[in-house]
This record gives sequence, structure tokens and C-alpha cells, in this order.
Amino acid sequence: MTLLASTAEGEFLNSLIDLLVRRSGMVTLRERRLEVLAATRELAVATGCAGMGDYLEKLTTPENGNALDELIERLTIGETYFLRHPEVFAALESEVFPSWLAASGPIQIWSAACSIGCEPYSLAIAWKEFLAARQLWGPELAILGTDLNTNYLQQAGDAIYSSWCFRNLSAGWIHTFCEPRDDKFQLKEPYRKGVSFQRFNLLDAPSSIGLVDGSLDVIFCRNVMIYFDQATISRLAQTFHRLLRPGGWLIPGASECNTELFSSFSAVNFAGAVFYKKEGNAQPSPSLRNFAPWEPPVFPPPNKSRQVRQAPADSSRAEIVADILAGRCEQASEKISRHLQLQKMNPDWHFLLGLVQEITEIPDAAEASYRKCLYLSRDHLEAQVNLALLLMRLGRTEAANRAKRVALRSLENSTSTADLLCPRGAVSVERIRHLLNPESSSHA
Ligand SMILES: C[S@@+](CC[C@H](N)C(=O)[O-])C[C@H]1O[C@@H](n2cnc3c(N)ncnc32)[C@H](O)[C@@H]1O
Repeated sequence: MTLLASTAEGEFLNSLIDLLVRRSGMVTLRERRLEVLAATRELAVATGCAGMGDYLEKLTTPENGNALDELIERLTIGETYFLRHPEVFAALESEVFPSWLAASGPIQIWSAACSIGCEPYSLAIAWKEFLAARQLWGPELAILGTDLNTNYLQQAGDAIYSSWCFRNLSAGWIHTFCEPRDDKFQLKEPYRKGVSFQRFNLLDAPSSIGLVDGSLDVIFCRNVMIYFDQATISRLAQTFHRLLRPGGWLIPGASECNTELFSSFSAVNFAGAVFYKKEGNAQPSPSLRNFAPWEPPVFPPPNKSRQVRQAPADSSRAEIVADILAGRCEQASEKISRHLQLQKMNPDWHFLLGLVQEITEIPDAAEASYRKCLYLSRDHLEAQVNLALLLMRLGRTEAANRAKRVALRSLENSTSTADLLCPRGAVSVERIRHLLNPESSSHA
């Protein structure tokens, strides 16, 4: 192979680097000229090109898109490890995980530029441990890890790591979550469940991998934006904002926090970590969350995919409410039980069960169901109101007064004028106020 003469080589390198930056966003490649040159030479030889000119032609021929991606893969930096920046996971545990307990469907997370997968798996482990430590049941996490380097993703799919990836963790930790594989460690199956991988270039449209606006609870995008210029980061910030649901979080790397670039988010400081929140009304009641269709992404090969569990779709809340209002209590009860088997922590199913139990005259069970609902979501207005009315009906004056005070306070603070569901049907807010407090209301 003939090497290019030095001036020609300089020009060649410049145009090659331009091409690589346009395709990958990694502007830092401009400062890595020698590495780019070395990788290019290596690949030119490996792919049997007669010279660098030949190879450049190959790279710029659209049908050879793979050749360019292959070169980019040689130049990515996949530095990562388990529980990287532990303060992030501590903040998730104390500030974010508790809010997921009452979610009615899978929590959808994107780990963008996840390298070999330590980040998405760390999150899966942290969530499982959070639940186990509290003996709680919680929704599934559906975690999509993406990267543009297919070799990294291959390793992520296999989940086999050298001890270097656990550099900050104890031997005990490694043995709890991994099985030894020769001189390496493979993550145990339960901690891989719900995590899937797919190749994706952050410069491309996320819809190409099935990501839908307003569908994500968290986006991790750590330690990759450092390679991009401001215009790219700004475009990404807008994309992330669109993809998150209101109340969802963007988690950048520690050195990537930037109030100006992420100005559409609210920066929230936790001990040692900053998260960016998409403001807007979080779901008023978890069961009303409108999950956008989530195509479980797959990385390689399709038959090895671990499917993301969908929220049960057999009977919607509206259908169950219609059953209750039409007096089809047995059907409603069956449907609610099915939901509860999968989503014990969803407050709304407990509330609806309470209604059915009240209609079918099992007041003790109804009280317990309303209380379970309120335990899981203490602001659930319909449960507050119905618990108060039930206790009044049962003549449990002291408990009824307490429950009444809570319900009336919530009604006062509520801006909603929607009717509330009660055993006798949908009842107006005004009528409810009167029922709870007949003396202070002129309502007939
Ligand atoms: C330093 S690693 C970060 C891994 C992980 N997020 C962490 O913080 O531990 C950066 C990753 O970004 C990926 N990357 C670089 N440019 C990318 C792009 N345009 N699209 C997707 N991934 C990219 C690289 O392949 C690499 O795996």
C-alpha cells in the first residue's frame, strides 16, 4: 500500500475528519488526528484497499455506509463501569424511585450512548435492590440501551464483563449480581430482564427505533455530549424534552450539566448530582398514564430479544367503570383482580375494588381497599371522598370526621370540576361537598 504524501495526507485527513464529524457528531475527533490516521490505515489494509485514496472512495460511496460506521466504531471511547457516579443512583433511590411505585405500566427508560451496557444494568439492579430492601412490589422497568458501536452492544447483550467494569464495587457485590465466566463475570438473568439494546446514532431521528414523544420516564445521556458541539447538544436537548413525559427526567453526565443548553428543563439539585426535569402535569392518577406504544427494541439477533412487558391491555379503566355503573359488579371485580395480580401497587385498582365492595355491601373490605389506595397515593381524591362517606354511613364518627377533613381540604385545593365516582354513580363536586358537610352548604 502506498501512503499518501504528507501534504496530500493532510488534506485527505481534513476531509475524512469532516466526514466523520458529520456522521458521528464527535467534534473532538479534530484533536485526534493521529488516532484517526492510524485507524484509517489499519482499516484500509484490513479491507484490502489498494491505497488511502481507494479507501476514501469506499468511505464516501453511499452504498458503503458501513465502512464509515466501522471507522467511527474504531474511534469511539466506550469508557464506562457499573454504578458510575454513585450519587446519581442514590438520588434516583431517594427522590425518583418512590414515585414509580404506584405507576400502572412499565417505567420506560432510555440509556442513550450506553457503551457496553453497565449503565442500563446498573439501573436495573438499583431498582430491584430498592424494591427488595423494602419488600415492595413495583412496576417493571423497560430499559433501552443504545449506542452507535455495535461491538459494544454485542458485549452489552452478552452481559459479560471484566473486573475492571466493577472497579468501585466489592467482591461481595460482584458475586451477588454476577456468575463467574472464566476470568470474567456475567450478570445474572434477573438483572438483565427488561433491558434490551439497539444500535442508534444520536444524530438520527429517535422515531427510527420506535421512540415516541412523551413516552419516556428517564433519559440517561451521560459522558457522550462532551464529544459534541453546542449546536448538536442543543438539538439533542430539544429531542429529549419531546420524548420525556411531563415529570420525566434527563440525566446527563456530571460535566455535561448546563442550565443554558437544558433551559427547557428545570434543573434539580440532589446531593452530588443534578437532574433535569420536564415540567408539566405529572399524571393526576397513575392509572391514567397514557403510555405511548413502545416497540421493544432488539439487539442482536432478534430471536435473542428480551421483551419489554406491556401494561395489561385486556380491560381499560373506562370499561371497568362502565361495568360498575351498569351494576355488573362481578365482571368488574374479575377484571380488577386481574389488574391487581400484575399491578398490586396501583392505587386506582384498589379504589375501584373498594367501590365494587361497597356496592356489594362488604363495607369492611371496601374500607380496607380505599385505605390501601390512599396508602399508595394519599392524594387520591375519589378514595378520600368515598372513605369519608363510607365511614359516615357506618356511623364511625371519629374516623369519619378525620376522613371528612382530609377530603374537604383536598376538594378545596382541587381545581377539577369533574364528577367523582361513587357507589351510586358519578356525583358532582358540589353535591359531594354537601354530602360531606351538609351544615355549611345550601345545596338541597
Ligand atoms: C464514554 S461512553 C459513555 C457510556 C455511559 N453512558 C457512561 O456514562 O458510563 C460514550 C459512548 O458514546 C457513544 N457515542 C459516541 N457518539 C455517539 C453517537 N453519535 N450516537 C450514539 N452513541 C455515540 C460511544 O460509542 C460510547 O460508547
